[in-house]
Amino acid sequence: MLETLRYLVGSAGASGYGSKSTAEQVTENCCDLHSITAIITGATSGIGAETARVLSKRGARLVLPARNLKAAEDARARILSENPDADIIVMGLDLSSLNSVRNFVSEFESLNLPLNLLIDFDPTRAYALSKLAIVLHTKEVAQRLKQMEANVTVNCVHPGVVRTRLTREREGMVTDIAFFLTSKLLKTIPQAAATTCYVATHPALVNATGKYFSDCNEASTSKLGSNSTEAARLWTASEIMVSRGSKAVFDPLTSALDYDRKSNSKKRKE
Ligand SMILES: NC(=O)c1ccc[n+]([C@@H]2O[C@H](COP(=O)([O-])OP(=O)(O)OC[C@H]3O[C@@H](n4cnc5c(N)ncnc54)[C@H](OP(=O)(O)O)[C@@H]3O)[C@@H](O)[C@H]2O)c1
Repeated sequence: MLETLRYLVGSAGASGYGSKSTAEQVTENCCDLHSITAIITGATSGIGAETARVLSKRGARLVLPARNLKAAEDARARILSENPDADIIVMGLDLSSLNSVRNFVSEFESLNLPLNLLIDFDPTRAYALSKLAIVLHTKEVAQRLKQMEANVTVNCVHPGVVRTRLTREREGMVTDIAFFLTSKLLKTIPQAAATTCYVATHPALVNATGKYFSDCNEASTSKLGSNSTEAARLWTASEIMVSRGSKAVFDPLTSALDYDRKSNSKKRKE
């Protein structure tokens, strides 16, 4: 109840920012990003586009991977019209294809640029399950990076709820009514981009890793989201799927891989 009130009023949390803070406000005093290269996926629209605009305004070089190159060039042009000195590289990437991801990685490596920030606005259909997977994956990657003593931090962010193109496949009267009824709870796009920009740039978070942030403050996840056993299982399944290709389908209930079952039953028949 108190949290809902705090959200509606937009009162500042421990970080000094809250639900109504915008991406520009949270990056105002903290940083000159001229030495930073940031890859931002999903930057052709919505929260990703605002994140890209603001980080570019603060000086970051942007790499914008997109499946729709025309949309990415338009996004680049919009940023350049506001900030003619912006340094923005557009590259092809379809996040639903592992091959495309691999091609992107080798193309990016061939540019010989540093990678200081990777901001992944990975849009997906199986919403709740995929968001849980992101939380678990963040924790596991952070843990592994710590063990390796790598100077890399990884965190996940809840932007809040905002009307973007995310609901484009469900546009219509019902969606309009749902957004109207919840309008007091919705953020603007600049507010929705604030938590990402805060986590990506604020000096106070330089060592923060494996954390979850909401409304520009650290927040706690669900019980399942902090389950390290599940995080480790997800990691193992992901490693197998990545190494064997997209034909492997992990069943979260049995921990089995359909790929394995299919190939085993095929072997048995032979
Ligand atoms: N909006 C919300 O209320 C809300 C709430 C919680 C979390 N989020 C999360 O915030 C992130 C950004 O969402 P948004 O609301 O800003 O959505 P959006 O306006 O629909 O933006 C999604 C972006 O992802 C890109 N994209 C989609 N499929 C892709 C693919 N296969 N490969 C490469 N790029 C692809 C889109 O590019 P195209 O131009 O090619 O379509 C677009 O740039 C998502 O991860 C979403 O789940 C949003």
